[in-house]
Amino acid sequence: MLGIDLRPESLGQGYGTDALGAFLHHFFENMGFERMLLSVAAHNTRARRCYENLGFHTNGTHWDAHIGPDVTGDAQFAFVRHLFRRGPLGLESLFYDMRLDRKAWRKRQSDTTP
Ligand SMILES: CC(C)(COP(=O)(O)OP(=O)(O)OC[C@H]1O[C@@H](n2cnc3c(N)ncnc32)[C@H](O)[C@@H]1OP(=O)(O)O)[C@@H](O)C(=O)NCCC(=O)NCCS
Repeated sequence: MLGIDLRPESLGQGYGTDALGAFLHHFFENMGFERMLLSVAAHNTRARRCYENLGFHTNGTHWDAHIGPDVTGDAQFAFVRHLFRRGPLGLESLFYDMRLDRKAWRKRQSDTTP
C-alpha cells in the first residue's frame, strides 16, 4: 500500500509524479513486487491525476473517516458535497481503490519509451 505526502510548498510542481515514477521503477524492476495498491479520496483531484498519469486504474470504492476540516457546509465546496456522507465513522469521505500491476507498468514503459 502506498502513502505519499509532499511538503505543502512543493505541491503541484511535478515532483510527486516524477518521484513516484522513479520509485515505481525501483519497486517493480529492482525490488520485484508485482503490484502496488493505494486508496485516494475522490475529492483529491491532484493525487488522482498523479496516479492516473502513472498508469493506476480504479478497481473499487469505499467510504472511510474523513481526515481534515468539515467543508460540507461551505458553499464553495458544493461541487464535491456528494463525495462526503454522515456514516458510522462520523463524517466520511468516498475513496477510490487503485492498483497498478507490474505487467501494465512494463507495457506502459515500452509504449512511451522511444
Ligand atoms: C499527491 C501528490 C504526491 C502529487 O504530487 P504533486 O507534485 O503535488 O503533483 P504533480 O505536480 O505531479 O501533478 C499531478 C497532476 O495533478 C494536477 N494538479 C496539480 N495541482 C492541482 C490542483 N490544485 N488541482 C487539481 N489538479 C492539480 C497536475 O496538473 C497533474 O496533472 P496533469 O499532468 O494531468 O496536468 C502531492 O500533491 C501530495 O503530497 N499531496 C498532499 C498529500 C496527498 O494528497 N497525498 C496523497 C494521498 S492518497
